[in-house]
Amino acid sequence: MGVEAGGKSKRLLRFQLEITALVLLISPSLANGSKCILFNFGDSNSDTGGLMAGLGLYLGPPAGRQYFNRTTGRFCDGRLYIDFLCEGLKINFLSPYLESSGSDYTHGVNFAVAGTATEATEATVIPFPLSTQVLQFLHFKNRTRELFPQGLGSMISEKGFENAVYSFDMGQNDIAMPFNVNSSYPQVIEKIPAILSRIKDAILNVYKNGGKKFLIYNTGPLGCLPQKLALQQQIYTELDTYGCLAAHNNASKAFNVGLSELLDEMNSQYTNATFVYVDIFSIKYDLIANHTKYSIDSPLMTCCGFGGPPYNYVFRKTCGEPNVQPCPDASRYLSWDGVHNTEATNAIIASKILSGKYSKPQIKLKSLCKA
Ligand SMILES: *[C@@H]1O[C@H](CO)[C@@H](O)[C@H](O)[C@H]1NC(C)=O
Ligand SMILES: *[C@@H]1O[C@H](CO)[C@@H](O)[C@H](O)[C@H]1NC(C)=O
Ligand SMILES: *[C@@H]1O[C@H](CO)[C@@H](O)[C@H](O)[C@H]1NC(C)=O
Ligand SMILES: *[C@@H]1O[C@H](CO)[C@@H](O)[C@H](O)[C@H]1NC(C)=O
Ligand SMILES: *[C@@H]1O[C@H](CO)[C@@H](O)[C@H](O)[C@H]1NC(C)=O
Ligand SMILES: *[C@@H]1O[C@H](CO)[C@@H](O)[C@H](O)[C@H]1NC(C)=O
Repeated sequence: MGVEAGGKSKRLLRFQLEITALVLLISPSLANGSKCILFNFGDSNSDTGGLMAGLGLYLGPPAGRQYFNRTTGRFCDGRLYIDFLCEGLKINFLSPYLESSGSDYTHGVNFAVAGTATEATEATVIPFPLSTQVLQFLHFKNRTRELFPQGLGSMISEKGFENAVYSFDMGQNDIAMPFNVNSSYPQVIEKIPAILSRIKDAILNVYKNGGKKFLIYNTGPLGCLPQKLALQQQIYTELDTYGCLAAHNNASKAFNVGLSELLDEMNSQYTNATFVYVDIFSIKYDLIANHTKYSIDSPLMTCCGFGGPPYNYVFRKTCGEPNVQPCPDASRYLSWDGVHNTEATNAIIASKILSGKYSKPQIKLKSLCKA
């Protein structure tokens, strides 16, 4: 007994020494590399200024009236959920890849561009679909490698790229586009396998180029957006329990089921990588269903819009246009402009993402990038 106990404590001691040695060994790199590196691909939900920079457009006030007190190209009164994630990870906000002035890429890059989908179609004139965003990432990685020896560029190391988290927030526009041209529900559903296949290709392209940690957001309840409710209810008349368009929400759910299955497959096939699925639909649907808990009065009403209840949304009288007044307190609204969430809502969404409770496998983003 005594011998065994002694053996145990010796083993424990050796284990502790090894741990100490390991910590000493890795701490120099942790000292400057302990911060997360995040590369994000997506649409307006996570665009921190890419569309405005890329096309030389200007998104005027009242966007950005919270926090920034200036327009930043974010479709929001203030910060997006991805900004709050960066705050949670204690890294700077991600600069848009397409922004040539004042950008900081030391902790990652944001390739997201508003209005994009998994492919460029006639419906989206914006030339930065998901596949292009991934090519831009590969270009960025090549340039970083070239410039690194000269001490220039982002200075992200090979290890940095390997340990980075690659997040994808795509699907909302792919699902929305066929509804915008009055496609029938079965016609929308038919498009889902091709959308998923393009998402898989994009993720695999990053994986084949050394990425191993992936965070993939599913899509929110499209049918609860005030814009869709105001403009498409005449055609898609069925409403769900909470007053959202049933066809749109069913299509979002069908896409999400497919995405979840895809990531399950990828986790079993590519065992040296982790693909984390984040259930944004549940986060946003809970905000609508249980809105009073979040001090939201009318979950389907736009803050910055026109026309009053029930949606405060009118075609060509949208946020940013003349004579369109924002509500005084956006924190009592989920929707900022009829399509995008308010800063207050984005803060809640980010805290729920960071909790890990909506992730499968249940890994917190913080642990994922530190791993
Ligand atoms: C916000 O910006 C406006 C216009 O540039 C300026 O007048 C105002 O003082 C700023 N407010 C704050 C709190 O910085
Ligand atoms: C990156 O560089 C490799 C060669 O090192 C090249 O094969 C590849 O096409 C480059 N990719 C981009 C997007 O520039
Ligand atoms: C969709 O239907 C609406 C209402 O019938 C019609 O006004 C609109 O022009 C249609 N849109 C397209 C792209 O067919
Ligand atoms: C993962 O495994 C594949 C196939 O064995 C290999 O080609 C790839 O380099 C590995 N990736 C990482 C990040 O270790
Ligand atoms: C949406 O899904 C629900 C539940 O499966 C079903 O009852 C309803 O008919 C569907 N509605 C539409 C428009 O797809
Ligand atoms: C509303 O909140 C309750 C209690 O937390 C929860 O069980 C339910 O799932 C929520 N509803 C939705 C649609 O998320």
